[in-house]
Amino acid sequence: MKILVGITGGIAAYKSPLLVRLLRKAGHEVRCVVTQHALQFVTPLTLETVSGNKVYADLFDSHNDHTTEHIALKDWGELMVVAPATANIIGKMASGIGDDALSTLLLSFMHKPIYLAPAMNTQMWECPAVQRNIEYLRSIGVHVLEPASGELACGTSGAGRMPEPEEIFATLTREVLSGAKMGVQAESDNTPLSSIPNPQFQRVLVTAGPTYERIDSVRFIGNYSSGKMGFALAQVLADKGVEVELVTGPTALEIDHPHIHRTDVESAREMFDAATALFPSCQAAILSAAVADYRPEHTADHKLKKQGAEGMTLTLVQNPDILATLGTMKTEQQTLIGFALETDNELDNAQKKLKKKNLDYIVLNSLRDAGAGFGVDTNRVTILGRDGSNYATPLLTKGQVAEEIVKHCLCPKA
Ligand code: CTP
Repeated sequence: MKILVGITGGIAAYKSPLLVRLLRKAGHEVRCVVTQHALQFVTPLTLETVSGNKVYADLFDSHNDHTTEHIALKDWGELMVVAPATANIIGKMASGIGDDALSTLLLSFMHKPIYLAPAMNTQMWECPAVQRNIEYLRSIGVHVLEPASGELACGTSGAGRMPEPEEIFATLTREVLSGAKMGVQAESDNTPLSSIPNPQFQRVLVTAGPTYERIDSVRFIGNYSSGKMGFALAQVLADKGVEVELVTGPTALEIDHPHIHRTDVESAREMFDAATALFPSCQAAILSAAVADYRPEHTADHKLKKQGAEGMTLTLVQNPDILATLGTMKTEQQTLIGFALETDNELDNAQKKLKKKNLDYIVLNSLRDAGAGFGVDTNRVTILGRDGSNYATPLLTKGQVAEEIVKHCLCPKA
């Protein structure tokens, strides 16, 4: 992959050559773009030696091939990481200021994946203006890594240290580079996929878990769904900086992430109310919940007594179909992804559901696959697109399947 490493003027800049080295060793091409202040901490010669390329520092450098070098670099680069990223560069990016080689390049690179590794004093990091800038950048799809805590160069200690180069490299590898190198591809389409969601997907609705349909005060109709698939999807999306509205039926699972807003519901009708209320403010929805298709017609508010040896009859009435309803509400700008759990004629049935419910993608789970289904930690799915795409995963953990779903349905072609 072609990676641009931006370096700004913080003491942690002395660690940047190590990040460049790690990226080169992993087989990537790297070009460094530095600010004048960064050159107080790291020399161009060091960066040229480790990157194997010239270093870009000056917008109006007479040695540059042309003064629009930053435009050529933005076309060359596929990913940009700024480490360290000072409060200054963060402020410039958030305000649209381009007054040197790095800041102008960043402004022209916003449509591609950008990772920032902030480094500054704790009070600067916690300053409301800096936090507002970070929040804004995250909201437009820039990936801002959490700074580490510890002893700072100014003699104090707290949050604000640049994450170690090895950690930055590990994050990039996990979130972007491994996918690029694996080149996971849809069968019908050989274009490699990015693992960074398209910036338009700022808020995504995810439904998870089973629903419980009450019979009386102590009994319900439910199913074996654990919620693991939906929670894995929420986690993967949130880790990529997407705001997640997680609507979940009863589950023992816990999740704690600043980007995840959880709504707990019990029945299909409660899930319907929550999902239809949240969908208009989301750019995509992934409905992985195992919703009960039927509920008892009457719910007793006390515990029902045994009815004797002749048995008892429970009349069931149909629940609203949440996915189909969102399919009717969907606008041109929204993406809707459903799941299908099938046992026979899997592909055929899934294709029919895709069309009938007006979906963009359907994730087919086959109960015939060993290792796939309710309660287990692994899954194997086939993702069908309304564009005719068809991609079958191998047996993966639910976290890996979630990565694949996000990559295929919400990430742009790289
Ligand atoms: N779903 C939903 N609301 C329902 C039933 C299902 O939102 N009342 C969603 C599920 O979350 C899943 C998809 O619909 O994303 C498919 O569910 P599934 O049970 O496999 O299919 P159904 O459409 O219910 O059809 P059938 O049971 O006949 O296979």
